[in-house]
Amino acid sequence: MPEDARVLTVGVIGCGHWGPNHIRVFSEHDRSEVKMAADLNASRLDRVSRRFPGVRTTTDYRDLLGDQTIDAVVIATPTKTHGAITREALEAGKHVLVEKPLCDSTEEARRLTALAAATGRVLMVGHVFLFNNGIMKLRQAIARGELGRILYADAVRTNLGPVRGDVNALYDLGTHDISIFNYLMDATPVAVSAQGSCISQTTIEDVCFATLKYPDGTLGHIHVSWLNPRKVRTLTVVGQQKMALWDDVDPSDTLRLYDKGLDEPPYYDSFGEFQFLLRNADVHLPKIDRVEPLVNQANAFLDTVLDSAPCRSGGREAEAVVAVLEAATRSLQMGGATCPVSAPHLGEPVCADAGAVTLAGATPVYGPPGTTPRRPVAYSVPPDRNSADAPSPIEETCKPE
Ligand SMILES: NC(=O)c1ccc[n+]([C@@H]2O[C@H](COP(=O)([O-])OP(=O)(O)OC[C@H]3O[C@@H](n4cnc5c(N)ncnc54)[C@H](O)[C@@H]3O)[C@@H](O)[C@H]2O)c1
Repeated sequence: MPEDARVLTVGVIGCGHWGPNHIRVFSEHDRSEVKMAADLNASRLDRVSRRFPGVRTTTDYRDLLGDQTIDAVVIATPTKTHGAITREALEAGKHVLVEKPLCDSTEEARRLTALAAATGRVLMVGHVFLFNNGIMKLRQAIARGELGRILYADAVRTNLGPVRGDVNALYDLGTHDISIFNYLMDATPVAVSAQGSCISQTTIEDVCFATLKYPDGTLGHIHVSWLNPRKVRTLTVVGQQKMALWDDVDPSDTLRLYDKGLDEPPYYDSFGEFQFLLRNADVHLPKIDRVEPLVNQANAFLDTVLDSAPCRSGGREAEAVVAVLEAATRSLQMGGATCPVSAPHLGEPVCADAGAVTLAGATPVYGPPGTTPRRPVAYSVPPDRNSADAPSPIEETCKPE
């Protein structure tokens, strides 16, 4: 590291299960130094002191906010406290990396994003799967058109616990999948329907099933649960040309790209003869470099604060995720009714460095007549799927939670 390179001084608020991972990652990084850690619970702080002897501790996070030698804070407290602590931290002039979700209302998310802009501080949210090498590889494959048009996506995130007491399984676990879907589709859903069951607690859903509808009609389905015998972290993305399976608990074959799908027959004489051909070809296993996603995320935060790099999970991206969670909450209260998402940047790409390809809205442009099999060679701006002449859908990413 050059001698004049800046080192970001960091404070970590919340030292429960997850906070110490942030302390480790930022302590080991050569561009940052962890100076202080805060937690209400003194025994948590004792553990931090034993493991990280150079880190000062306090039971009052305001000691940390008032310390002028600290540039940035990482907030890893329970979800319900994120909004208020983030606001205080920004007002104290700190750059903020807050755990997901940013907060629990779109209005508050909007205010926090505006506050970060007004104070000239970085606000980044720990949507850590956007920094998962498997998810990033999948995004690249989608962006270069390898999967073709995305037809639907299906995510499963289950385990036995940990059961949260402040938010439901959708806020806790589903947040990851919503951020992944938005990142892969480069869009925000227009509507959500969600159902869930409160089993271990009377008003907090342990299991939720949510369906997200994107601007062009593409569906994303999410199944999250704290009450399941098996730890599953899978994502299936079905494209018109290829299908992808991401399995975060499979260390060897984390991402598989299947050359499977439906092809149109090269020719047919009558409508009666017409039928799609099933294509069942090779499976490709892209090489995934095994880097801890939390380290990638810390790198991104440091790049944004120290080098003004674009932020993939900034306030704008987080606002969209919170808007989906808010709509899903309304839907849960209404027994699964479809509820519109009032996202501030509806239909637009929300990740600052995600690229300009609007995938969920793209439609295929076919090659010259006679090309066999007849596959799209490019994608154009989306028509309205609901319009009469719209083509049918067929034509056309320590372990984080
Ligand atoms: N990205 C991931 O994969 C991932 C994984 C686990 C948790 N998380 C997130 O991290 C956050 C913390 O989760 P956790 O599992 O560590 O929870 P936890 O309950 O184990 O820890 C939270 C800690 O915050 C402390 N705390 C609460 N209010 C505080 C306050 N006002 N000031 C200082 N400390 C306070 C508590 O005493 C506790 O030690 C949550 O937002 C969760 O969603 C993210």
